[in-house]
Amino acid sequence: MLKNKTIIVTGAASGIGAETAKTLKAQGATVIGVDLNQPDTPVDQFVKANLSDPASIDQAVAELPKGIDAICNIAGLPPTKDRAAVLKVNFLGLRDFTEKMIDKLNDNASIVNVASLAGLGWPEAGDQIKALITLRDFNAAEKLCEEQGVGQSDGRSYFLTKETLIVWTMMNRWTWRDRGIRMNCVSPGPVETPILPDFLETLGERAEEDAKVMDRPGQPTDIAPVIAFMCSDGSDWIRGANIPVDGGMYQHVMCEMHGHN
Ligand code: NAI
Repeated sequence: MLKNKTIIVTGAASGIGAETAKTLKAQGATVIGVDLNQPDTPVDQFVKANLSDPASIDQAVAELPKGIDAICNIAGLPPTKDRAAVLKVNFLGLRDFTEKMIDKLNDNASIVNVASLAGLGWPEAGDQIKALITLRDFNAAEKLCEEQGVGQSDGRSYFLTKETLIVWTMMNRWTWRDRGIRMNCVSPGPVETPILPDFLETLGERAEEDAKVMDRPGQPTDIAPVIAFMCSDGSDWIRGANIPVDGGMYQHVMCEMHGHN
């Protein structure tokens, strides 16, 4: 299905990224991992990058080849990490990396951003999202948190980055349409990876409530095939969309919120 495609996977060293790299390879793609850490899962090429640092991003982009058919932006930090670092890795770095890679993409390439169920509050977070989208200076991430009331202990930085990623993806529905390049989000619910305990710690009671209605926690193997499909030609007419992969949690929250139960 992905034969003759060369695909970049950020976050390929762990969790959902590692499983995605494995799935893409099994479907015939050539996979280039981009991460802070060398992946254990076999990739065809590894490029080390710190996505919280624009200089490191520049270096990685220079090292990466042309002729890329898809980018899977999966690297991310959980809500327990430093709030400015979360803004940098989960949004500022992802955007910077993606924009700098556009010239190296083939026509009809696919960009797949891994957002989260945690981004579902985007319609209510307009001002904070606009502030983050406007921010270009990585060094000003901490100042933005101060100005916008993004706390450290409440994990708000994580939610904000995922909301912003969903909105930025929608905004880019047609940005590269002349070249057939599309961008979409895949939004997992809670998935058993090394960072799941961090989410549960931040969400507290809400996570317990969610666990009561969910049939089971997600596995990386629930998410990777969907990302692979979004890299394939079959997803060509999906543009700027956010695809929940969460055992039905997004639909559950929406029905509850709007009184349709
Ligand atoms: P993970 O912690 O297993 O993997 C994250 C990867 O990102 C690691 O390989 C890490 O080295 C890399 N990374 C972190 N900081 C980096 C940096 N500065 N530069 C380059 N690479 C860096 O996490 P997991 O669970 O696989 O998460 C992957 C994505 O899925 C994240 O964006 C996360 O927000 C999202 N997600 C995860 C959910 C979960 O429950 N596990 C739920 C919803 C979304």
